[in-house]
This record gives sequence, structure tokens and C-alpha cells, in this order.
Amino acid sequence: MSKTDAPLRVGIAGLGTVGVGVIKILEGQRALLQARTGRQVCISAVSARDQGRKRGVALDGYAWCDNPVDIAGRSDVDLVIELIGGSDGPALALARAALNAGKSFVTANKALIAVHGAELAELAEANGASLRFEAAVAGGIPILKALAEGLAGNVVTGLHGILNGTCNYILTRMEREGLSFGDVLKDAQRLGYAEADPTFDIDGIDTAHKTAILAALAFGTAPDMQALPTEGIRNIAPVDIDYARELGYRIKLLGVVRRTEDGIESRVHPAMVPLAAPLAKVMDAVNAVVVQADPVGQTVYEGAGAGEGPTASAVVADIVDILRGNIYPAFGVPAKRLQHLPTIPTEKHKGTYYMRLRVKDRPGVMADITAELARENVSIESMLQRGKAPDGGVYIIMTTHNTREVAISSTLKHFTQLECVLETPTMLRIEEF
Ligand SMILES: NC(=O)c1ccc[n+]([C@@H]2O[C@H](COP(=O)([O-])OP(=O)(O)OC[C@H]3O[C@@H](n4cnc5c(N)ncnc54)[C@H](OP(=O)(O)O)[C@@H]3O)[C@@H](O)[C@H]2O)c1
Repeated sequence: MSKTDAPLRVGIAGLGTVGVGVIKILEGQRALLQARTGRQVCISAVSARDQGRKRGVALDGYAWCDNPVDIAGRSDVDLVIELIGGSDGPALALARAALNAGKSFVTANKALIAVHGAELAELAEANGASLRFEAAVAGGIPILKALAEGLAGNVVTGLHGILNGTCNYILTRMEREGLSFGDVLKDAQRLGYAEADPTFDIDGIDTAHKTAILAALAFGTAPDMQALPTEGIRNIAPVDIDYARELGYRIKLLGVVRRTEDGIESRVHPAMVPLAAPLAKVMDAVNAVVVQADPVGQTVYEGAGAGEGPTASAVVADIVDILRGNIYPAFGVPAKRLQHLPTIPTEKHKGTYYMRLRVKDRPGVMADITAELARENVSIESMLQRGKAPDGGVYIIMTTHNTREVAISSTLKHFTQLECVLETPTMLRIEEF
């Protein structure tokens, strides 16, 4: 048997939702995987914290490692699969140990790749190993493969993604049921759609990790969390969801990356998306990504972004690539040639905006507001007055023509200082694509 006909022996660290899903596919689809790749895959060793925990799969045929990092040093492991999580700790130690030993490394860990991806890609190449992480972004949607392979002949100009199922689920229920963010979050936690500590999801950090990875694949740059201004959905109010709809939009938490003449723009924030746009129709816990590229134009990818089956499906796709010998650089270009393109700060972002003010119900208010808009040269596309706001006063809703974010930020600051303005104004970016 030549080396390439020999079974690929894998070690799996982390036997939670995803780890168990991967074992089920590798064991349950053994014949299918061999037929598709011409090679057998077998599990040699596994690791988790609690050896005694019942996991719904038989583990007695595999060696047990108390320390996950030991998996990398085993002579009966060719490929290391990390399904523990976290940007540092055992996940990072295992990645470094595996790649330094020249063993390929597959992970579903977006935090690890967003923070240490460039270092690990370099380590993989220096040691002739492969680093793959399809499951780290949008779970079951093969978006990294699409960028690295299917769109390899294109220049990506922009990408918008709904990348966090928890946030999309919360926004969907707020709209459908007219509930507040806090009420839906509590119910989502009860139903298992949100973690007990939901910070990573609702504050946009999870989306930022995924957006950093997408930007790296799209533009051949090193993932850069520092260049990613991030806002979550905590401050979204049902009233803005209603006004968005009235104006022809739906609010979504987006990861956005864009190539402009001045550099790369990456950001994570809730945005108003036109109701006719593909992302506006993505509801509940579903994920989706829209890519603009030249010459292909717009392509749309949609599916389950998390869960045992979809995430394990993506991990196994990476294993299949390694079985087939389909090896390419982690971020689509060799690690040493990852570019450091200038990033555009948010103040320089140019776009259209939605603003909502709660103001006193008295004559002269409109004049005060329009004077502030004129001061910063902000041109208004539409302005509505709606009364009565539940806490007193009336609402003024505005959308702007194309303008720089720095002008919007100053205008909001001036609004706050007006005697007629009753609370901190709300601002949302409008994304037309
Ligand atoms: N769940 C999803 O839908 C999903 C989707 C996309 C990506 N991911 C990513 O996939 C990875 C795994 O997620 P998951 O949902 O499967 O997590 P999980 O259910 O919490 O499982 C984590 C596993 O890691 C083990 N573990 C934790 N700390 C350890 C340590 N110090 N040493 C050894 N083992 C340790 C745990 O052991 P015990 O079981 O003994 O406690 C558990 O088996 C994460 O990077 C996550 O971001 C998950």
C-alpha cells in the first residue's frame, strides 16, 4: 500500500456538539467517504474534559487523551481536528503542536482563526501541512470553499453576510411578534437558541470573527480583528423595526467587507437592508452570504449556520479535501504573500443613514433639526413625523442621501445637545446592494 492509499488516521479534540457530529459522519458514512476519495479514514484518538460523560456515540475503539495537545504527538494520528473552541488555551496549543509536527489541522474555531490565522497559516506552510476551517464561518454553507475555489478567477468587490443565527433569530421574532430585544433574548435562552452568556453573539463579536476570516479569503489579507469596528443588536428597538418596514427595509446584523479605491472596509453592525434584497428574506436562525465579484457578478449562499449536522458537514468537507490531496493555502494565497491593504476607518464610510429622534411636540422643532443637518451638509432623502411616542413627545424619522459617517456622527452629537431632543438619537446604516 502506498502512503496515499493508507488510511488517514485522525485525532479529534473536543467531543461536544460538533465533535460528536463529526464522529457520526466519519463512522456512519465510512463507505461513502472511501468511494468518494479512494481512501479510508479512521479515528485513532479523542480528547475532551470528562471521559465519563455519555455522548451518544461509542468511543471505546479510540485511544483517550486527557490532554488534547497530546493528540498532536501521537504516531497513530496524521490529521488533528480541533473542536474545543476559544482563541487561545488548548485550541491554540494544539494547533501549534500539530502544525509544528507537520500534521494537517482542521478546526471549526472562528475565534482561533480570526486572531491567530496568519501565524497558523505560515506555520502550516513552513511544515508542509494543511490548515482548514470551513466550519468556522456560516456552519454548513461552503462559503470559504466558494471564495477560495469557485470564485478563484474573480476579484471580490464586496461581501455582506448574516453570520450569526442567534441574532437573526432574535431580530426575526422581534419583528414578527412586536417584542422587545430583552423579552426575545430571554425566550431564546429558554429555547436553547441563545447561550446563557449571549455576549459573543449579541454584541457582534462572533460575527466579527467570521467577517475577519471572510475578508481575509476575499482579499488575500491576514485576518485583522483590530480593523473591524463592531456593534451588536442590544439597542435595536421594536419601533425602529416598524419604521424600517414602513420605509421598505428590514434590520439585519451584517458583516460587511468592501474593496474601495482607498482600501478595504470591514465592519459589523445592524443595518437596514432593502426588503427586495436576498438578505432581507433570510429569517430565523438561517445564515446567508452575498458576494459581489468581477466578472461573475452577484452570488448568494444560504443555509444552516450552526448545529451538529451542518457544522460537522463542513468539518468533514475539509477532511475529504485532505483525503483527496486537495491542498491550497489557508487564505487562498501563500501566507508570506498575504497583503496588508490600508483599511478605511468608519468615519470615512460613505453611505445612507436612518436616524430617529424623540423630540418635544412644539413649534420650531423642525427648524432646529434642519439647521443642524445644514451645518454638517447632510442632505435628507425623507423625513416623517410620527406622534405620540410612548414616553412623551413625537418621533422624527429621517433617511439621508449619500454622506460621510463623520458628518452623521457630528450631527447626532449636535442633536443630543438640542433642548427639544428628549433622548439619545438612534442611527442605523442603510446597506443597498
Ligand atoms: N455548535 C455549533 O453549532 C458550532 C457552529 C460553528 C462552529 N462551532 C465551533 O466548533 C467548536 C466546538 O463547538 P461545540 O458547539 O461543539 O462546543 P461544545 O459542545 O461546548 O464542546 C466543546 C468540547 O470541548 C471539550 N473541551 C473543552 N475544554 C477542553 C479542554 N481544556 N481540554 C479538552 N477538551 C476540552 C469539551 O469537553 P467535555 O465535553 O468533556 O466538557 C467538549 O467536548 C467551537 O470552536 C465553536 O465555535 C460550533
